[in-house]
Amino acid sequence: MKTAHLYVSLHVFLSASVLVSAFDPITTTVVLGIGATLGRTIYNYLHESCEPKWIAYNATGLQVDLERKLFGQHIASRIILKAVTGFMSNDNPRKPLVLSLHGWTGTGKNFVSQLIAENIYKEGMDSNFVHIFTSELHFPHASQLETYKSQLQQWIKGNVTNCAHSMFIFDEMDKMHPGLIDGIKPYLDYYDKLDGVSYRKAIFIFLSNAGGESIIQTALNFWKGGRDREEIELRDLETELSLAVFNNKKSGLWHTSLIDKNLVDFFVPFLPLEFRHIVQCAMAEMKARGLKPDQSVAEQVAEDVVYFPKAERVFSVKGCKTIESKLDYYA
Ligand SMILES: Nc1ncnc2c1ncn2[C@@H]1O[C@H](COP(=O)(O)OP(=O)(O)O)[C@@H](O)[C@H]1O
Ligand SMILES: *[C@@H]1O[C@H](CO)[C@@H](O)[C@H](O)[C@H]1NC(C)=O
Ligand SMILES: *[C@@H]1O[C@H](CO)[C@@H](O)[C@H](O)[C@H]1NC(C)=O
Repeated sequence: MKTAHLYVSLHVFLSASVLVSAFDPITTTVVLGIGATLGRTIYNYLHESCEPKWIAYNATGLQVDLERKLFGQHIASRIILKAVTGFMSNDNPRKPLVLSLHGWTGTGKNFVSQLIAENIYKEGMDSNFVHIFTSELHFPHASQLETYKSQLQQWIKGNVTNCAHSMFIFDEMDKMHPGLIDGIKPYLDYYDKLDGVSYRKAIFIFLSNAGGESIIQTALNFWKGGRDREEIELRDLETELSLAVFNNKKSGLWHTSLIDKNLVDFFVPFLPLEFRHIVQCAMAEMKARGLKPDQSVAEQVAEDVVYFPKAERVFSVKGCKTIESKLDYYA
């Protein structure tokens, strides 16, 4: 709507200036000058640029989104809101924000990254300043490590040079080659500048399943003890998580000195999801499709999901991941 209106005004403006310019060369110059300025303003209005109009953090927005849209992740919600708000309200951060999200598949790690992006960039995940890398998609061949590494470094450098408030999401971090992770380490550190570029306003988000099993074990222990899920606190998970993560020789992330050097600012655990959360996901999905949310359909969908441990059926094996396609079948 706004766009159409602007085009019309621009058109009228240009027609008028052509009319005027037929008479007076000085007026022509002035009018064309104004026209150019106006043109640039309109261009910036319509095209995303690295300016506050397009990049403005909304803390309330993130808080509301986490409360309303993210189910069953009270610890992750709290840490993420605090971390992102603290970072974004600091005009002069000493290092980029580095978040490492851990947990079972389908528990909301990608989803939370999306919520963060939507409350920083007007264009959300479609923003030109948000970059997602998936190990198996972008860096599939170990033999090409050196090529990937220099390419990734060029990308990070190029994009942060364009816009300091860039966001980089690395999915499947546990499948990334340790050499590649070593390659991005310098950008996460406390450097004032590297080759004349400051990385301190950038955000890096690492997603992985590393430590997922130890998080599940803790959640299961709480469940077996008849304790409320919301009673689980970060410190209940921390020891287990760091043990699992340090002892996992397979995952590249932990081979490198990301942890030793304290380059990761926050480790964020994602709990496995229960039946009631799957119901919530199904209800949200119906709403998103413009359907009237139907509790009994949602429960049917949730019934159809596989749970573990087999005997007790406590946690969804795939989290909320397959709900979308299951809903096609029921609704
Ligand atoms: N905790 C959650 N709350 C709300 N929706 C969720 C949650 N976890 C997963 N989902 C839904 O399931 C989809 C897949 O989850 P995703 O975030 O990709 O999982 P992963 O943890 O593997 O990154 C999301 O797009 C979202 O719609
Ligand atoms: C921030 O988010 C809140 C809650 O979603 C919304 O009401 C408000 O309009 C947003 N503010 C801006 C400046 O977009
Ligand atoms: C920014 O990153 C993207 C990958 O997300 C890459 O294709 C692009 O070339 C990078 N831009 C610069 C200027 O390096």
